[in-house]
Amino acid sequence: MTIDPDSFRSVLGRFSSGITVITALDADGQDVGMTVSAFCSVSLRPPLVQACVDRAASMFDALQVADRFGVNILAAEQEALSRRFADIDATRRFEGLGYARGESGVVLLDDALAHVECRVVNRVDAGDHMMFIGEVERASARDARPLLYYRGGYAQLER
Ligand SMILES: Cc1cc2nc3c(=O)[nH]c(=O)nc-3n(C[C@H](O)[C@H](O)[C@H](O)COP(=O)(O)O)c2cc1C
Repeated sequence: MTIDPDSFRSVLGRFSSGITVITALDADGQDVGMTVSAFCSVSLRPPLVQACVDRAASMFDALQVADRFGVNILAAEQEALSRRFADIDATRRFEGLGYARGESGVVLLDDALAHVECRVVNRVDAGDHMMFIGEVERASARDARPLLYYRGGYAQLER
């Protein structure tokens, strides 16, 4: 016996999260990126995080071969970036955006709440998704409010 997809979404959507844009370089050196809320810290020693990505996502193949990925934790005013990296044509997602590059070359978006640069240390099969586990090589943050996701919609922190 197993739970149906609608119930799964309805119940698990009660677990609120932040929102990230994961970035990487594909095999041709092109920038790829997508919105990911299934991101979390995993271990302190060593410092590990994970991002869970749909096998159907356009950047999936790039993540299968990439040795690094970047994590942009979005700030409250970056809802448009979240929509952009989920909805528009994957080849145009970086057009006109302000960003820097991390030491590994991955895009770090301007004005993100935090940046994390990771070295891929493991890939774990997880149903229709894959967990990409990264060791954190560099990380930085600024003081600002986070963008939140709750029950299928965007939310803001009230405190
Ligand atoms: C708020 C939000 C959170 C999302 N979280 C995830 C996630 O954790 N994992 C995932 O694979 N897709 C997630 N998505 C969906 C992907 O961003 C989207 O399907 C992806 O960019 C695929 O588009 P593409 O195949 O055209 O690149 C999320 C979308 C939104 C708007």
